[in-house]
Amino acid sequence: MQILQDKKIVLGISGGIAAYKTPELVRRLKEHGADVRVVMTDGAKAFITPLTLQAVSGNAVADSLLDTQAELAMGHIELAKWADLIIIAPATADIIARIAAGMANDLLTTLCLATSASIALAPAMNQQMWHALATQANVKTLNERGYLLWGPGCGEQACGDVGLGRMLEVEELVSLGSDYFSDKYLQDQHWVITAGPTREAIDPVRYISNYSSGKMGYAIAHAAVRAGAKVTLISGPVTLNAPVGCQLISVNSAEEMHLQALLFAPQCTIFVACAAVADYKVANIAAQKIKKTNDVMQLELVRNHDIVADVANLADKPFMVGFAAETQNVEQYARGKLVRKNLDLIAANDVAKSGQGFNSDDNALTLFSAIDKTDIPLANKQIVAQQLVSLINQHYLAKQS
Ligand code: PMT
Repeated sequence: MQILQDKKIVLGISGGIAAYKTPELVRRLKEHGADVRVVMTDGAKAFITPLTLQAVSGNAVADSLLDTQAELAMGHIELAKWADLIIIAPATADIIARIAAGMANDLLTTLCLATSASIALAPAMNQQMWHALATQANVKTLNERGYLLWGPGCGEQACGDVGLGRMLEVEELVSLGSDYFSDKYLQDQHWVITAGPTREAIDPVRYISNYSSGKMGYAIAHAAVRAGAKVTLISGPVTLNAPVGCQLISVNSAEEMHLQALLFAPQCTIFVACAAVADYKVANIAAQKIKKTNDVMQLELVRNHDIVADVANLADKPFMVGFAAETQNVEQYARGKLVRKNLDLIAANDVAKSGQGFNSDDNALTLFSAIDKTDIPLANKQIVAQQLVSLINQHYLAKQS
C-alpha cells in the first residue's frame, strides 16, 4: 500500500506565482492515494482558477469563511477536523505573517487556528523578503509552535533574483508528504553518512577525483530521514540537493571528510561510509598552476587516512557500515575489507557492471556481515537505500539484544 493511501490532505494555496504548480501537486498527491481538498486565499485566485483545482482534486474548492454549502455554515471547522495534514504551498510572506500573528481573517488562516492536524509550510517569495527580519521572526515563531517548514529551495526566482525563496519542486513536496506519514522506526537514532567523491588538489586549478555522483549516499540519507533518524550527511562535491531534514556538511578533500567524520561519529548510533574517498593525495600541492614544461610529468602521491577504519577504531565506536566498490572478486574483497576495517557490515557493489554503481540511477548491493549475506536486487537507488536502511537497522538491533 502507498504511504499516502487514504490520507486526508488539505492543500492551502496563497497568492504567489508558484501557485501555478499546485494543480500538478494535487495530481501527484492523488496519484499516491491521498484525498486532497483545496483551500484558496483571494490572492491565490489571481494566479490560478478554483475551477482548475476543483477539476484536478475532484472536490469543490473552499475559499470562503462563511460557507452556506457547509453543514452549520462552518466549513472551516469541518475541514479542520477532516484533515490529517495541511500543506500550505505556496506559503507567501503574507500568509506566514498572518498565521504567526494568529489572525483569522480568511478561511485558510482560520483553518490553521481551528485544526489539530500538523501544518507544513512551503515558503515561496523573493529572496530579500525571505531574509527580512520580520519573515525570519515569523518563521521562527511558527517553527517553535511545531509547524513544519518544507523549504524554501535556492535558485533563480520569478523576479530574476537568485537565492533562497523558491518553492520546493512538486516531487520534493510529495516526497516530504510521504515522509511525514511513514513509519518512524529510526526515531531515536542518529546516522552519520558519508557520500560523494573527494577532490585531491594538484594545483589551484586541477584535482584528482572519481565518478561518484553522491546518489547512493544521498538516497541512504533520505531513507534514514524518512524513517525518523537524525541524519548528518558529510558530502564531497556533488550537484544534488541534500534531503530536507538532514544536516549537510560539505567537504572537498579526504582530509576534510576525515576531520568531519571524527567530529560527528562519536555522537552517532550508526555510521555509513558510502563516499568514494580518494586513497591517495598529492604530496606537494603546487601553489601556482603547473606549466607544461616536460613531456612526462610525475606526481608524488601519499596515502590518505582511511576514514571508516579510523572511526571504527574509536573507543566508543558506533555501529559501522562500509561500502566496497569492486570490479572483480566482489565477495572476497568485500569480506576482506569487513575484517580489515573492523566493520559490522559491508555493502558491496559490482561497479564493473553497466547500469549500476558509479553515477547511475540504479544499483544492486550485497550486504555482508561476519556470518551472513543478503542480496538487494537491482533497482532505483532510492528503493535500494530503503531496503538497505531497514536491513542495517535489523542487524544493529540484533547486536544490541
Ligand atoms: O555516488 P554514486 O554515483 O551513487 O555511486 C555509489 C558508489 C559506487 C560510490 C557507492 O555505492 C560505493 O560503492 N561507495 C564506496 C566507494 C569506495 O570508495 O569503495 P572502496 O571499496 O574503495 O572503499 C571501502 C570503504 O572504505 C568505503 O566504505 C569507503 O567509503 C571507505 N574509505 C575508503 C578510503 C578511505 N581513504 N577512507 C574510507 O573511509
